[in-house]
Amino acid sequence: MKEETLIHTFTPREIVSELDKYIVGQHEAKRAVALALRNRWRRQQVPDDLKDEIAPKNIIMIGPTGVGKTEIARRLAKLSNAPFLKIEASKFTEVGYVGRDVESMIRDLVEIAINMVKSEENKRVEFKAREIAEERLLDLLLPPRPAPHPSDGLRSGEKPLEIVGEKTAPSTRERLRQLLRNGSLDERFVDVEITQTSMPMFEIFSGSGIEEMGINVKDMFSNLLPKKTKRKKVKIPEALEILTQEEVQKLIDMDRVVKEALSLVEQGGIVFLDEIDKIAGKDQGHGPDVSREGVQRDILPIVEGTKVNTKHGMVKTDHILFIAAGAFYVSKPSDLIPELQGRFPIRVELDSLGKEEFVRILTEPKNALIKQYKALMKTEGIELEFSPDAVEKIAEIAAEINEKTENIGARRLYTIMEKLLDDISFKAPEMSEPAITITAEYVEEQLKEFVEDEDLSRYIL
Ligand SMILES: Nc1ncnc2c1ncn2[C@@H]1O[C@H](COP(=O)(O)OP(=O)(O)OP(=O)(O)O)[C@@H](O)[C@H]1O
Ligand SMILES: [Mg+2]
Repeated sequence: MKEETLIHTFTPREIVSELDKYIVGQHEAKRAVALALRNRWRRQQVPDDLKDEIAPKNIIMIGPTGVGKTEIARRLAKLSNAPFLKIEASKFTEVGYVGRDVESMIRDLVEIAINMVKSEENKRVEFKAREIAEERLLDLLLPPRPAPHPSDGLRSGEKPLEIVGEKTAPSTRERLRQLLRNGSLDERFVDVEITQTSMPMFEIFSGSGIEEMGINVKDMFSNLLPKKTKRKKVKIPEALEILTQEEVQKLIDMDRVVKEALSLVEQGGIVFLDEIDKIAGKDQGHGPDVSREGVQRDILPIVEGTKVNTKHGMVKTDHILFIAAGAFYVSKPSDLIPELQGRFPIRVELDSLGKEEFVRILTEPKNALIKQYKALMKTEGIELEFSPDAVEKIAEIAAEINEKTENIGARRLYTIMEKLLDDISFKAPEMSEPAITITAEYVEEQLKEFVEDEDLSRYIL
């Protein structure tokens, strides 16, 4: 089966160690999502009759703000290699989204899957497409009229002159092919016909309202209207690219892509419902928000398993995995409607972060803040260094301010680092010294007034 090759077979341990590259700590949450991902794959291997019985074990991640919930989701998306959609549950209550139906998340997931399968297909047919494109390009460069194209076959009764042509033409063509391949023609121009696919005019109309009925207005119209083509003068490499893309489109069997994508969604799709706490709890009964309980009731059938109509066909949601996350400051998971609670049997709590974690977050992840600032300063020709005690100091201040004012988790590090490096950042282009080391003293000096003055830190850091 094709799906199996697309759904990655990372082991739980591998998934956790991938997540470890970006997220410090939170081992329990990493473990839970890694297991859930692996279970998708396991289910694929089970005989069909039992397969349908195995329901996904949906997860709720609970933890204070800024401790890595969304970050885990983002990284997981890249690892899962299955259709993965991250969406804020609160979207469905927001003013602009009144009436936006919850089923649209399944439609979005289908689009994601279609793009995934399509790009797999792209890779598969690209070689062939390039071959055909090369022939077409050679035809453009060397119109086959005077000497018949070899594939034209034999034309009986032609004049002897043509026979001479036939002899030389393939070799001319081959010589040209050589020139084309070794790049000697890269600076030459050629005229190509470009089919206009985008019709910006219709973008305006095909907003989300119509989209949600499962009709693609753009497709409808573009099939009605005659295809517009335009001649364009482009350099040879670009022409080859254009022709290749055209051939790719012709070679891809869209019916199969759609079929595969739908099955991929049904069997392996993952929806990450972020900010689920925002739809928990009793409605306050004011404002234009859609009732939160209403949103929960809308989500429920999708999580329980229903059929959603998309423009590509019906999708069964029974086996889609849902991972929810929320801070649950005001509300509790028990404030969710009971039916929905029951559909999220796995609960994991994320730890709040302290000084030690901050030290690691500043330095360890692949995208660690300190690495980012160093790279940025390097563009100005400055080697920025942080002494170990400076890192300690930053972490300490972050933890302290989180305690004194509001605990915003690792996000505190962003505001602090920005303030800390404000001065250097501004003056960097004019600085003459090639290396700067940030010391604990410098950190203290730059941030002292904010740390001492609680009100000030509330606003600035
Ligand atoms: N454990 C961690 N390791 C590394 N970086 C982290 C960690 N926790 C948070 N961060 C960083 O802090 C920022 C905020 O984290 P994230 O968006 O995951 O918060 P969250 O838990 O989803 O919070 P919220 O409940 O407010 O949505 C991100 O840029 C992330 O990289
Ligand atoms: Mg978040």
